[in-house]
Amino acid sequence: MAYGLLKGKRGVISGALNEQSIAWKVAALAHEEGARFVLTNAPVAMRMGELDKLSGSTGAAVIPADATKDEDLEKLFASAKEQLGGPVDFVLHSIGMSPNVRKGKTYNDLNYEWYKQTLDISAMSFHRMIQAAVKQDALADGGSIVALTYVAAQRVFPGYGDMADAKALLESIGRSWGYHLGNSKKIRVNTVSQSPSMTTAGSGIKGFTGLFDFAEAMSPLGNAPTEDCARYVISLFSDLTRFVTMQNLYHDGGFSSTGATPMVVDKFERS
Ligand SMILES: NC(=O)c1ccc[n+]([C@@H]2O[C@H](COP(=O)([O-])OP(=O)(O)OC[C@H]3O[C@@H](n4cnc5c(N)ncnc54)[C@H](O)[C@@H]3O)[C@@H](O)[C@H]2O)c1
Repeated sequence: MAYGLLKGKRGVISGALNEQSIAWKVAALAHEEGARFVLTNAPVAMRMGELDKLSGSTGAAVIPADATKDEDLEKLFASAKEQLGGPVDFVLHSIGMSPNVRKGKTYNDLNYEWYKQTLDISAMSFHRMIQAAVKQDALADGGSIVALTYVAAQRVFPGYGDMADAKALLESIGRSWGYHLGNSKKIRVNTVSQSPSMTTAGSGIKGFTGLFDFAEAMSPLGNAPTEDCARYVISLFSDLTRFVTMQNLYHDGGFSSTGATPMVVDKFERS
């Protein structure tokens, strides 16, 4: 059921690659809730062709932008503002990639060139995106910006490799921009820390299915589905959360606050 929560709002949604993507679910729901927005992704993602489908069903234009390139991001926000007829009320950063994780380089044997790319693509891009939007005067007063993150920023999950460092940086960037944009334009900035989810980025992590099942067993509510993550993000874009800012918000079924569950402990019980 739609509530019209984003009626009249304009936005930029990054990171929708295919139907599994968290950003895809956010875009579909933002459309249902009455928003108008543009979609963006790296030029290489365009070639996969699936974004056209989402563009068709939501009426959103697609603007290619590599999130590590300032020129691309500045063009993105300039044309979003032009196409949508004004500055945007919400921005979703849903971007992550680690060449080290992808190529099986563990945390104790990192390739530092790839490490720089991990930080650039997965964290600095959040700073770049906001800075580009500010430079283009493309953010409306009272807006809301959200980036997706993972609990490996707080606790060690060895298979997550250098992405853990990227997420810690991403969350810090969110807090810092939250201060600056709150002061200047009453814009809020938050990160949403999502449960493991079966997406292209998620499945690239070593031992992902084991991690998924472990998190499921450790979460009183079970792993949070991506559709529900989208609902949470929409609430953060809406006017219902105008004083929530500079937070890392867990959307994880209770995983981050749970020490042990019988389902996990029973596996270690000596009979
Ligand atoms: N899947 C999970 O288990 C999980 C859990 C918590 C947080 N997250 C985070 O959610 C976000 C979205 O990931 P997802 O799980 O939906 O996977 P996904 O693979 O569908 O999305 C990742 C997106 O990043 C984009 N991207 C990569 N490099 C880019 C670049 N240079 N410029 C612009 N875009 C680029 C990809 O094209 C893709 O659309 C990521 O930040 C991810 O870390 C995922």
